Amino acid sequence: MRKSIDELVDVDNEGTVAREIFVDDELFEQELEHIFGRAWLFVGHIGLVPNPNDYFQSRMGTDPVILTRDKAGDIHVLLNTCTHRGMKLCRSDQGNTRTFTCPYHGWSFSTDGRLVSRPGGLYGVPGFEKHYHSELDKQKWGLIPVPRVEVYKGTVWASWDIGAPSLLDYLGDMRLYLDYALDYRDGRPDGAEVIGGVQKWRVNANWKMIPENFIGDLYHDVSHRSVDAVGIGPSGKGRRDKFGNRVTLCFPQHGHGVIGQLPFYEEYEGVSGTWGDSPEAREYHEHVHRSRVQRFGDRMRVAMSVGTIFPSMSFHGRQPRTIAWVHPLSATETEMWRIFLVDRDAPDTVKDEARRYYMRYSGPGGMTESDDMENWSYATRASTGWRSRQLHFNYQMGLGHARPVPGLAHAVENGEYNEENARAFYRRWSQFMNASSWKEIPMPDGTGSELVTDSEARQ
Ligand code: FES
Ligand code: FE
Repeated sequence: MRKSIDELVDVDNEGTVAREIFVDDELFEQELEHIFGRAWLFVGHIGLVPNPNDYFQSRMGTDPVILTRDKAGDIHVLLNTCTHRGMKLCRSDQGNTRTFTCPYHGWSFSTDGRLVSRPGGLYGVPGFEKHYHSELDKQKWGLIPVPRVEVYKGTVWASWDIGAPSLLDYLGDMRLYLDYALDYRDGRPDGAEVIGGVQKWRVNANWKMIPENFIGDLYHDVSHRSVDAVGIGPSGKGRRDKFGNRVTLCFPQHGHGVIGQLPFYEEYEGVSGTWGDSPEAREYHEHVHRSRVQRFGDRMRVAMSVGTIFPSMSFHGRQPRTIAWVHPLSATETEMWRIFLVDRDAPDTVKDEARRYYMRYSGPGGMTESDDMENWSYATRASTGWRSRQLHFNYQMGLGHARPVPGLAHAVENGEYNEENARAFYRRWSQFMNASSWKEIPMPDGTGSELVTDSEARQ
């Protein structure tokens, strides 16, 4: 008989998670509805659709969606399937178009999702007058819009659940760390540019292993020993980013968490040796650093390195600024996407150094991400056997040693090496999986109230 969710995930007493949740097809189906059908999901960045009628093909769970900017400039997220007979409407990754015309029978939809009308023409609904006798209700047969869409400082989020809390409540105080990554030079929220396109690749691993890694797994440093042994960081010089007293900080009631350094920036973070050290870049990053200290210094607990927003979006807040998000394909296969952000007005040297860093660091060919992929895929594969899938993963490190964070009502921190944030992630996973609607998913009171940053700009 199938075990209950609470039997599968017991992070608070035993500190264990059943391997089954990483390999089981039925649980995967349940995740699509309970997690990917309800949570706020990151779907892209407005830098991918800068102009009217731009589009970017994304995904929510296993559903293909199109992120569009319509001709009036408004952002939409639309289900990428023709309402006539289901053809995948948009099949190119990214571009600009006035209409999406279905290759099957020719129905055409504008970038805001309406089934368009061009009487007598080839487009719109071919044969609308002659074959449909002008009786088809075009208003009813537009593309299916994702009902909740919010743009926050350039990031676009969507949820299928009209009962979901606002994005800001969903983020809670984790928002401060998202601001840290998204507020660009001098705090402007609108200055980001996505460089180098979107990296996309597949990993033969369960999707949860990836955000779990980014939410707080500093313990896996040993995996990257070869990079450290040769002494060449992803910049081509210096070492990997390892300095300061690292600590994990999490927002357990939301399932989000970050890794960072203590204290928050008393001195220059020293990124230059890590990912580039031309004098121009050094000066630029020192400027960004000083500006951040001014804006965040008395409110932030840690200098953020990397973190995860439950369930599937992870981001680096320092340099480089990247967003990685995962799309589950099956219980044991996941597509991983990553974008890289720089200030639009950064000097060319800075952009060039960032691009080089990104290529060396990330993706299946990167110096460190390839190590991680080996771990995730072999751990998944070694958990699919009849015997191995009966076992549990161990999340006991630091159990019972979390400390509240003064001034941060809903946060706890633990030492450098612990599994606090992973436990929070799976506790949140259990809450989503057990709930029959958003009403049953606990939300802390008053989240996101005291830590709001200066700029509230949504776009
Ligand atoms: Fe798209 Fe028929 S499936 S027009
Ligand atoms: Fe890693």
